[in-house]
Amino acid sequence: MDVVLFGPPGAGKGTQAKRLTDMLRIPQIATGDMMRSERASGSELGKRFDSFMSQGKLVPDAMVLELVEVRLRKDDAKNGAIFDGYPRTIPQAESLDGMLGKISRKIDRVVSMEVELDEQIQRITGRRTCLACGQVYHLIYNAPPANGRCGNCAGELVQRKDDTEEVVRKRHEEYLANTAPLLGYYGAKDLVVSVSGVGSLDDVTERIKKAIGV
Ligand code: AP5
Repeated sequence: MDVVLFGPPGAGKGTQAKRLTDMLRIPQIATGDMMRSERASGSELGKRFDSFMSQGKLVPDAMVLELVEVRLRKDDAKNGAIFDGYPRTIPQAESLDGMLGKISRKIDRVVSMEVELDEQIQRITGRRTCLACGQVYHLIYNAPPANGRCGNCAGELVQRKDDTEEVVRKRHEEYLANTAPLLGYYGAKDLVVSVSGVGSLDDVTERIKKAIGV
């Protein structure tokens, strides 16, 4: 099964993708996470990613395509994937269709998670992420253990560089201009199911499970 978790910054895509990978035994393919890990390696490519990410701008399509092509070839993705934060432009969606088509697969469902801008800002400015395993927390809504370390691996929790209100607003503008039009692209293929992204993590998971029929 190949599923796109779609939605604006802070909709809860990463949080829900991690829950679904455990359930469905297919990997999360999150281009944002892949770019952050490249950046953390200190490579030249990572520095180029950072020049866009730190300003809330989208990374150019050609750079994203290469990342995903390599990731999709890995063995754990042979039965499907949960795409989180990708595709983000119509050319990215077209190239994903092409990549999947070559291996006789296609996107089965696009789950559009709906959350208002004020809520997105609250969520993102309170987000903390584990440096070691990527587990995502929120200081109020999904609080980490009292010792302030990751509950999975005891790793250090940090705030993402692009998680300031100013950058979130820029990311939201990019979403409206370049990513929201994908709803029309996938809508024309009758693949989109909209779910509210507001409520407890369990409630949102249940809505997504229903949307993808598991
Ligand atoms: P990326 O990392 O993909 O960020 P994003 O899409 O902006 O989404 P977020 O990770 O901010 O939010 P999310 O929806 O995953 O929410 P989360 O589950 O963490 O991209 C970052 C940057 O990389 C981009 O700006 C761009 O520069 C670049 N990039 C990445 N992919 C690209 C691509 N394909 N093309 C071009 N550029 C690309 O939840 C957020 C917070 O809310 C957490 O604290 C969580 O605990 C909390 N929360 C989650 N669910 C709930 C709930 N139900 N109730 C209350 N709180 C909740």
